[in-house]
Amino acid sequence: MEPDEILKTNKAYWNANADLWFGTTALPTYGVHFLTENDLHLFGDVSGKKLLDICCGSGHSLKYHADRHAAELWGVDISHKQLENADAYLKKQGYTAKLICSPMEAELDIPKNYFDYVYSIYGIGWTTDLQGTFQKIASYLKKDGIFIFSWHHPLNYCVAWSCSQRKDIIENDNLIFNRSYFDESYFRMPVDGSEIILCNRKISTYINALAQAGFVVEQMVEQTDKETMEATGVISDKAKKAKMLPISFCIKARKL
Ligand SMILES: C[S@@+](CC[C@H](N)C(=O)[O-])C[C@H]1O[C@@H](n2cnc3c(N)ncnc32)[C@H](O)[C@@H]1O
Repeated sequence: MEPDEILKTNKAYWNANADLWFGTTALPTYGVHFLTENDLHLFGDVSGKKLLDICCGSGHSLKYHADRHAAELWGVDISHKQLENADAYLKKQGYTAKLICSPMEAELDIPKNYFDYVYSIYGIGWTTDLQGTFQKIASYLKKDGIFIFSWHHPLNYCVAWSCSQRKDIIENDNLIFNRSYFDESYFRMPVDGSEIILCNRKISTYINALAQAGFVVEQMVEQTDKETMEATGVISDKAKKAKMLPISFCIKARKL
């Protein structure tokens, strides 16, 4: 599939559905409530720091850092509707951020060797050029600058609840592999009456692309929050799955 077609489809989806996602995949959660900054403390003290949010969406993660006294906030997103929401939301809170409407893959008018942190909460997986995007992110960061991102865990795409009608299987809550972990090809997915195009990259693809872009991984998180792990009784299928495998993963890397 051609990158232009993927970007066009995904941009149309986000412009049409921005309001549905207002504040839903933002810090302090790393996209889903199973992983949160309240537990992980990956950022540390951001006061006085310069931060760039890749795929900033409705601006809620930017507001999270503004509340913690970040000195400068920038955001990039492909969807003008998301950025309109972000701009209005931040202004209402008395904050400003420099917002750029563009695919993250493009050459952008963003200063080089400038940011203390670049981060992306459930955004990076949308890129059509992982290696190029990581290289650009490295160029925006100062030496020793921190890159933090979260995304769907690739195992989560490969494993589903068994649809078997056998009562014993349903009662045993069996999860089955329904696609290959190695399959990184693009697929179309119907969502909210519209469509998105994504691919499912292996963990090693992310790690190797980071290494090639000049990052060292300081921490990788594959876990589910304690509350979900300890939950008993009736819980959602998603929470049941989260007790058996990571739904999301998070990486903290440093630019060398
Ligand atoms: C799940 S949302 C992230 C929301 C964000 N973390 C927040 O704090 O609100 C994903 C975002 O990625 C954006 N996006 C998708 N593909 C993109 C691309 N190629 N370049 C830049 N942004 C993209 C979408 O417009 C959407 O706002």
